Amino acid sequence: MLDFRKLDLWKWFAKYGDPYPFVRPFLFMMDPEDAHELTMKVLGYGLGPQFSSDNDDAALKTKVFGVDFSNPIILAAGLDKQATRMDEFMGFGFGSIEIGTVTPRPQDGNPRPRMFRIAQAKALINRFGFNSVGVDVFVERLKAWREKTERTHNPIGVNIGKNKETTDDVEDYLTGLEKVAPYADFVVVNISSPNTPGLRDLQGRERMATLLGKITALRDKIAPALPVLVKVAPDLTEEQQADIAAVVMEAKIQALIVSNTTLARPSTIPDEIAREAGGLSGPPLFGPSTRLLAALYKLTEGKVPLIASGGVTNGQEAYKKIRAGASLVQVYTALVFEGPLVIQKMKRDLARYLRRDGYACVADAVGADHR
Ligand SMILES: Cc1cc2nc3c(=O)[nH]c(=O)nc-3n(C[C@H](O)[C@H](O)[C@H](O)COP(=O)(O)O)c2cc1C
Repeated sequence: MLDFRKLDLWKWFAKYGDPYPFVRPFLFMMDPEDAHELTMKVLGYGLGPQFSSDNDDAALKTKVFGVDFSNPIILAAGLDKQATRMDEFMGFGFGSIEIGTVTPRPQDGNPRPRMFRIAQAKALINRFGFNSVGVDVFVERLKAWREKTERTHNPIGVNIGKNKETTDDVEDYLTGLEKVAPYADFVVVNISSPNTPGLRDLQGRERMATLLGKITALRDKIAPALPVLVKVAPDLTEEQQADIAAVVMEAKIQALIVSNTTLARPSTIPDEIAREAGGLSGPPLFGPSTRLLAALYKLTEGKVPLIASGGVTNGQEAYKKIRAGASLVQVYTALVFEGPLVIQKMKRDLARYLRRDGYACVADAVGADHR
């Protein structure tokens, strides 16, 4: 059979013209989840890009919480929830990808439809509710991938969550951590998805301190060098922000991801879609998540590395996140609306902005707006 990987079609597309504007209308005629499943299939056939991070601009190389990244653009959690397309997404040009959220036991998530496009705002609302194959199957896949010789060696993060029906939230996270630890380069504790009842309550000062205390104690025992990160919601009061900053400065965690999707519904979202329950992502989230990023950078005095997530669609916005305090920048929704080439372009433009302003590397620009 023809191996599409060898043809490396996207190298030519990057040079002579992006086919995504022609593909998008067909994908957008489909139900969003069906379109996602088709895309995953197509990627599995080797029809996605195969960009190598070996060619990344030297200015983009960076080291955060002891891990080397060839560039700071990372795939956000939720696109490869079941650990099936690691190399394929890495081929988009990401410096790293975050897979999951994975839950300890398998669960279906919410009934369909559970993902909605808002074309005019280039945004999405989703309420998947952690559809997961469960950590055992997930880890089998990750282990098999690690054992492959021909695979990307860029870092992989694993995002862990809890089951909807659980009697012990903390135990769920400890189970997840214990099982994924041998195969992850960093682990993300997700206490901010809006679609699992009660999950965001774990962001409260005492519960978060208890949870992170137990998680880091287990990490110190089983994998002392493994960075543990926490992903927070954008919908936080000033008091909650201060609480999170205080807990994070105390706990031995390595970074914060700011932020998950929002429950807010800005006026740009048409009423009929705004009514759908779930988290909003894409450009309408850029402002609120960047303001929270800047606030947390100040509250943590620039001492805790921050990873930006929320509405980044181009190199300029990635650069803004870095200046506001991010050491790394994640992307999800922009891929749906702009296609895979958006990552290569984002990296090129980001390197240009860094040079324009006299920064030799990403790290030099982190938090520049606060100086
Ligand atoms: C369809 C969809 C599913 C998602 N699933 C997860 C998830 O399982 N775990 C998680 O931490 N975040 C999840 N997210 C949130 C993204 O990781 C990201 O934080 C958010 O979408 C904001 O970034 P963006 O505006 O670039 O999409 C999901 C987002 C979308 C759109």
